[in-house]
Amino acid sequence: MTERTLIILKPDAVQRQLLGRVVSRFEEKGLKIAAAKFMRICEPLARRHYAVHEGKPFFQAAVKYLSSGPVLVMVLEADNVITMTRKLMGKTFGNEAEPGTIRGDFAGSKGLNLVHGSDSPETAAYEIGLYFKPEEIVSYDLAAQPWL
Ligand code: RTP
Ligand code: MG
Repeated sequence: MTERTLIILKPDAVQRQLLGRVVSRFEEKGLKIAAAKFMRICEPLARRHYAVHEGKPFFQAAVKYLSSGPVLVMVLEADNVITMTRKLMGKTFGNEAEPGTIRGDFAGSKGLNLVHGSDSPETAAYEIGLYFKPEEIVSYDLAAQPWL
């Protein structure tokens, strides 16, 4: 079933000038970009984004990190896109993620992990609603679709 997910290229991806290479990972996989926005996430929005983690020891640090600089926010669309993007991203921490994954290849610490991806259809719907109005999500046919 066609599914949507919210992906964020976090402040370290912008500052390390890795946006193109990370977006390429998703494009090369054949995932369709349905929306994109370059923006700064303010602290209150970051708190809403990580609301499920409120009360956990890393909550404040995660909020600070996400709101520490501009980010690229995207909606990707494909069958099974949530599972696929989580696999492409790799384990949460760059120093544990497998080579071949985005975090495994480009992140080497526990602190900064370059990319966010929704972890369930419910989370995706909630997160997409935080960043995009329905009319900002673009409906179109991907020319390569029959070949994917
Ligand atoms: P994300 O939400 O950013 O895609 O990452 P994730 O699903 O792989 O990991 P999650 O458990 O949702 O954690 C959200 C973010 O909080 C930071 N974190 N720090 N020190 C810690 O134990 C810890 N655990 C999580 C990370 O920045 C993670 O991306
Ligand atoms: Mg998460």
